[in-house]
Amino acid sequence: MTATKGLEGIVAAQSSISSIIDTTLTYVGYNIDDLAEKATFEEVVYLLWNKELPNEEQLAELKQQLADNMTLPQGVLDHFKTYPIKEVHPMAALRTAISLVGLYDDEAEDMSKEANFRKAVRLQAKVASIVTAFARIRAGKEPVAPKSDLGYAANFLYMLDGKEPEAVAIEAMNKALVLHADHELNASTFTARVCVATLSDLYSGVTAAIGALKGPLHGGANEQVMKMLTEIGELENVEPYIQNKLDNKEKIMGFGHRVYRNGDPRAKHLKEMSRQLTELTGQKKYYEMSVKIDEFFTAQKGILPNVDFYSATVYHSLGIEHDLFTPIFAVSRMAGWTAHILEQYENNRLIRPRAEYVGPELREYVEIDER
Ligand code: SDX
Repeated sequence: MTATKGLEGIVAAQSSISSIIDTTLTYVGYNIDDLAEKATFEEVVYLLWNKELPNEEQLAELKQQLADNMTLPQGVLDHFKTYPIKEVHPMAALRTAISLVGLYDDEAEDMSKEANFRKAVRLQAKVASIVTAFARIRAGKEPVAPKSDLGYAANFLYMLDGKEPEAVAIEAMNKALVLHADHELNASTFTARVCVATLSDLYSGVTAAIGALKGPLHGGANEQVMKMLTEIGELENVEPYIQNKLDNKEKIMGFGHRVYRNGDPRAKHLKEMSRQLTELTGQKKYYEMSVKIDEFFTAQKGILPNVDFYSATVYHSLGIEHDLFTPIFAVSRMAGWTAHILEQYENNRLIRPRAEYVGPELREYVEIDER
C-alpha cells in the first residue's frame, strides 16, 4: 500500500453537483460564467439542491423559506456575548454557532429526506444571520433583523450594516456568492461528506466543514491576501515583498490550486469586480497592487490566482472587515456543503481509506521499569 500525499488525483466520490474540466467549472451542467452574469444566489442554491434551475414559483417559494428561517434563536445571539476571550475569530464563532443552532432544531436527529432538506434551508438561512449578528455584537451593536423583501445578498449586507445596500453592492455580493457556492470535492466539502458518511447529522457535517474551510490553505486565504496587501502598502513595494517571500520559500496567498493548472475560471470575474469596485470607492491602489502581484508572481513561478485572490479586494471595497472574508465564503459554500451532504445520504457508504504504515516494525513490549 502506497499513500498518495494529499490524495492528489484520487477520485473519491461520484457527484452530479459540480464539475471541473480543465478551466471550465459547471454547476449541474451550467457554466459558472453564465451563472455569474445572470443568476441570483437563490437560483444557484435551488440548482445545487434540486439539480434543476427553479421556475418563478419555485424560486419565490425558496426565497420565502429562506426569509422565514433567517431569525436566530435568542440563545444563539446571547452566546456571542459569553466568549471568555475577546479576540475570537469569526470563523471560530461561526463553527460554534452552527453547532449551537443544531441544539435548537427539533429535527436535528431526524434523518428523513424531508427533514434533511428542511435543515439545509435552515442552515442556509441562518448562516448569514450568524455571521452578521456576530460582527455587530462584537462591535457593541445590536443585531439587525432580516427584511423579507430583500434577496439573500442584499439581506446579508443589510444585516451587516443596518442600512439598505446600493444596487452595485448587492450585485457584487450576489456574484461573489454565486462564484463560491460549490467546487466539487474541495477540502471542506470532502470533510462534510466524510463526516455524514458515518450517518451523522447535517449540523455535524457542516460544523466539520467550517473547521476545514477556516485554514489558510483553503478558505482562510482570502483574509491573508488582504493582510498581504496591507503589509505591502504601496505599489512600489510589490516586487521586493514578493521576491522576499519567494526567497524564503513562503506561499503567496490566493495563488495556486490543486486542480487548476491553467487558471481558476472564477478569478477573472472577481478581478473585474475588483477593478470596478476599487475604482468606485477610490481604492484603486489595492487593485493595482493585486495586478502587479499577479503579473510578477505568475512571471516568476507560472502559478495563477485562485478564487481567493481578487475576492479579497472585492470584499474590502464593500467595506467589509477583513476577518469576515472567510465567513462570507462559508455563507456561500453552505449551499454546496448541504447539497453534497444530501447527495451523500442518497447513496451512502462509509468513507474509510487506509494508511501506509511507516512506523517501527513489530517489537517487544518493554516493562515500564526497564525503559
Ligand atoms: C481554495 O480545492 C478547492 O477547490 C478549493 C477552493 C474551493 O473553491 O473550494 O478552490 C478554494 O481553497 C483556493 C485555495 C486557497 N489557498 C491559497 O491561496 C493558499 C496558497 N496556495 C497554496 O498553498 C497551494 O497552491 C494550494 C494549497 C492551493 C494547493 O496546494 P497543492 O496542490 O498541495 O500544491 P503544492 O503546495 O504541493 O504546490 C506545488 C508547487 C510547490 O512547488 P515545488 O515544491 O513543487 O517547487 O507549487 C508551489 C509549491 O511550493 N506553490 C506555491 C503556491 N502554490 C503552489 N508557491 C508559492 N505560493 C503559492 N501560493
